[in-house]
Amino acid sequence: MQSTFQGINHSTFHVAVIMDGNGRWATSRGLSRSEGHKEGSKAVRRVAETAPTLDITTLTLYAFSSDNWKRPTNEVNHLMALFYEFLYAEKERCIANGIRLSVIGRRDRLSLPLRAAIKMAETATSFGQTMHLRIAIDYSARDSILRTASRLETRQEISRELFARLLAETNHSGAVDPDVDLLIRTGGERRLSDFMLWESAYAELVFSEKMWPDFDEDDLAAAVREFHQRDRRFGELSVLV
Ligand code: IPE
Ligand code: IPE
Ligand code: MG
Repeated sequence: MQSTFQGINHSTFHVAVIMDGNGRWATSRGLSRSEGHKEGSKAVRRVAETAPTLDITTLTLYAFSSDNWKRPTNEVNHLMALFYEFLYAEKERCIANGIRLSVIGRRDRLSLPLRAAIKMAETATSFGQTMHLRIAIDYSARDSILRTASRLETRQEISRELFARLLAETNHSGAVDPDVDLLIRTGGERRLSDFMLWESAYAELVFSEKMWPDFDEDDLAAAVREFHQRDRRFGELSVLV
């Protein structure tokens, strides 16, 4: 959680969430998958409001992977409409709560109105100091790494810090992405699905059986409690022995 970048010490707590299970939540209730996504957006609001009370400084939520374009067009269109609505609906709440909102991932395949909504929300919330909320849309960790690598000049001196900075630029994430401290996946699957592969090198993983629309404040608090009980060693010997 302590990171040093360019000689400055930052105390950061970066939690990233793979918000999985919207579709199963809906179909098990006889609802359409789109209704599951709508209910999932309510969970986003709950979790984003609780996160600062748990000292989370960056919260990155995986909303749409680059592979999710392969889903049926009506599901994709519904998701894109939901993102657009979310950005407009949440802007004021983010400003009121000091939350800086960003969208990470590719922009060039998003519609022009959605791109404009992203810019609007990012600009309006850019002074937020309480927490950085990042929504990953059209995000693929492998593509981000690949696009960052392809921007490097041959023979350029490259350090992890410089690469991380370039990666943040690729992701439209501002100055630098802090490493992920805690990675949560809901929905019962135990895989990363191309999310934050570079940034999660030493992340603690917590898997929840709950479907994302059912994930609430207490579940987030429980995951954070579990994180604080883990012994993070980063390859060194435990300070506890
Ligand atoms: C996660 O829920 C949201 C997105 C991937 C957009 P899913 O839609 O993957 O829900 P399940 O996994 O099919 O239940
Ligand atoms: C990962 O979930 C992407 C998001 C939660 C946005 P998926 O449902 O797309 O992942 P897989 O297909 O089960 O690996
Ligand atoms: Mg899924």
